[in-house]
Amino acid sequence: MLSEGLLDIAGTAILDDSVLVGYPSARCDAAELTVGDNAHLRSGTVIYAGSSIGRGLQTGHNVVIREQVRIGDDVSIWSNSVVDYGCVIGDRVKIHSNCYIAQYTELESDVFLAPGVIIANDLYPGSRASGDAMAGPLIREGAQIGVNVTLLPYITIGRGAVIGAGAVVTRDVPDGMIAYGNPAAVVRPVPDSRYVEARVQPARHARLGSGPANGVRSPIRT
Ligand SMILES: CC(C)(COP(=O)(O)OP(=O)(O)OC[C@H]1O[C@@H](n2cnc3c(N)ncnc32)[C@H](O)[C@@H]1OP(=O)(O)O)[C@@H](O)C(=O)NCCC(=O)NCCS
Repeated sequence: MLSEGLLDIAGTAILDDSVLVGYPSARCDAAELTVGDNAHLRSGTVIYAGSSIGRGLQTGHNVVIREQVRIGDDVSIWSNSVVDYGCVIGDRVKIHSNCYIAQYTELESDVFLAPGVIIANDLYPGSRASGDAMAGPLIREGAQIGVNVTLLPYITIGRGAVIGAGAVVTRDVPDGMIAYGNPAAVVRPVPDSRYVEARVQPARHARLGSGPANGVRSPIRT
């Protein structure tokens, strides 16, 4: 494991048993790892040496964060998600469960990835040329990516865009637009909050007798 001089993890961190911080990587031998104040790392989390993480990181169980990753403040990454090496992640990004963030992906601040989002970075797997050009997408500030979405290499998802559940996104999506389908088509602008309020159904947790409406609140917002 990483020698103490190279591990800079704030004393305010809460680490469950079986968390590994500073896992060595052959790609960047003996590189420093920094983890800012108030991290809460749950069991099974592994963070490689050679990454830099801001304040308030929250992980679920069995999360892997590889080397040469830069993460901002107040980011949460839920159970069974993997952030591969060389990614850049802004502030307040939420990555839900079972997500794969491929090498060299960029997620700007306030991006949300729903469960099962899968990101690709190698257009023709097995091809040398494609491997050398490996690059994940750029997801701009505040974009919301629905459940089970697949994002192909190189694309840009615009600021505040919404990608509908199950989409396979092969082309850029402009700022503020909704896209869905396979291949995803840009359908219309993201509606205002009045449309959304009229469209959604009454909160189910209120009917089930749990959740915020009944004073039960998760310690972490998802
Ligand atoms: C894209 C989305 C925002 C649109 O919601 P909406 O404004 O209520 O749209 P509607 O349900 O009125 O759908 C309009 C049409 O698009 C279709 N459609 C909606 N979402 C779709 C999707 N993800 N993929 C394919 N078609 C979709 C509907 O079937 C409907 O088609 P029709 O007119 O032929 O019946 C929503 O469907 C969606 O996918 N949200 C993401 C949910 C999610 O993953 N949340 C993550 C947190 S767990």
